[in-house]
Amino acid sequence: MSRLDAILAKPRPDPGDLAALLGAQAPEEQTRLLAAAYAVKVREVGSVVYFRGLFELSNRCNKDCLYCGIRRSNQKVERYTVPVDEILGGARWAWEQGYGSVVLQSGERSDPAFIDLITELVTKIRGLSNDQLAITLSVGEQSEATYRTWFEAGAERYLLRIETSDPDFYRRIHPADHSWERRRDCLRLLHSIGYQLGSGVMIGLPGQSVEQLARDILFFEQEKVVMIGMGPFIPHAHTPLRDGIRNFVWKRHAQLALALRMIAATRLYLQDVNIAAATALQTLAPDGREQGLMAGANVIMPNLTDPKYRSAYQLYDGKPCLDESATQCRGCLETRITSLGETIGFGQRGDSRRFLGRNVAAATKEAICRKG
Ligand code: 5AD
Ligand code: FES
Repeated sequence: MSRLDAILAKPRPDPGDLAALLGAQAPEEQTRLLAAAYAVKVREVGSVVYFRGLFELSNRCNKDCLYCGIRRSNQKVERYTVPVDEILGGARWAWEQGYGSVVLQSGERSDPAFIDLITELVTKIRGLSNDQLAITLSVGEQSEATYRTWFEAGAERYLLRIETSDPDFYRRIHPADHSWERRRDCLRLLHSIGYQLGSGVMIGLPGQSVEQLARDILFFEQEKVVMIGMGPFIPHAHTPLRDGIRNFVWKRHAQLALALRMIAATRLYLQDVNIAAATALQTLAPDGREQGLMAGANVIMPNLTDPKYRSAYQLYDGKPCLDESATQCRGCLETRITSLGETIGFGQRGDSRRFLGRNVAAATKEAICRKG
């Protein structure tokens, strides 16, 4: 039996097996790995895909990550903030369509006007959907008080990618005033406040190893991450990490394959979490996100940002669907997903099973303690 088959025969891979899964690049091995992860997904979370409507509400950002197209030093990008009413209109549309959740994402700011804007959006989106639409925030590192304000306003989930679980490597891809430790502490705060916690990493960064990616998966477990959003690194021409962009066209296939193995290994190891098929996968192949679903992902985030803003929210080069409206996006996605034999979880919130399981376990323990 090959090493891969021996690992896949276990009920769950051991931590020491993850790097071998990530390195299984021979095509027939990759096929077996992805199929095994798909089977675990169907067993643990069903063959249902949950949609999260994504709003990229502003590209103003105070940070300067070396890989990101909307970093503050990039003067080639025109800055925008979508007016409140436009976002509310989009959220209402998403609710009427049966989306269980919307994601509000933006560049990072922490001034009072921004904090108030997010509070207002959260309150109004909850209001217009009879408290039914689950709201996920993805607006970066903030103070405990701010996280609490938004949680109390009705936001239940938060996405904050750690980008890499390796602090030294993090320092290589960020300016000196960005702190891995502060980001990790934000994740802990969010968890302690009660948010359903999402995080993720970039896959295939220059100089990143499969051992590091394996440790990223262990980090998700340690930090109680129940929603995973991770995608391939794609160089952006107006960032310091543009090196290699000329050769990137040759690397696309390998980059996609590695990202799919990362999704598969994460599904095999963490089993009942939610995993998003990132839009960046679609930059590498037209059916990249569908390939992500077949490798173990169960969430897709259709972009509901009005097309007039989209070209200014390019975190990486070659972002797909820049000029499609929400309805067009929905039509093309639905057909592609159902043709895979998956159903779309319209009208369902699609909470992470791992989160629900943990909360049920905690509630039971609490009830037993109270009785005892
Ligand atoms: N390639 C891929 N993903 C990127 N992100 C930012 N820049 C890039 C890039 N060049 C991702 C980061 C961030 C998320 C919103 O987008 O992981 O957390
Ligand atoms: Fe905006 Fe990294 S550049 S958060």
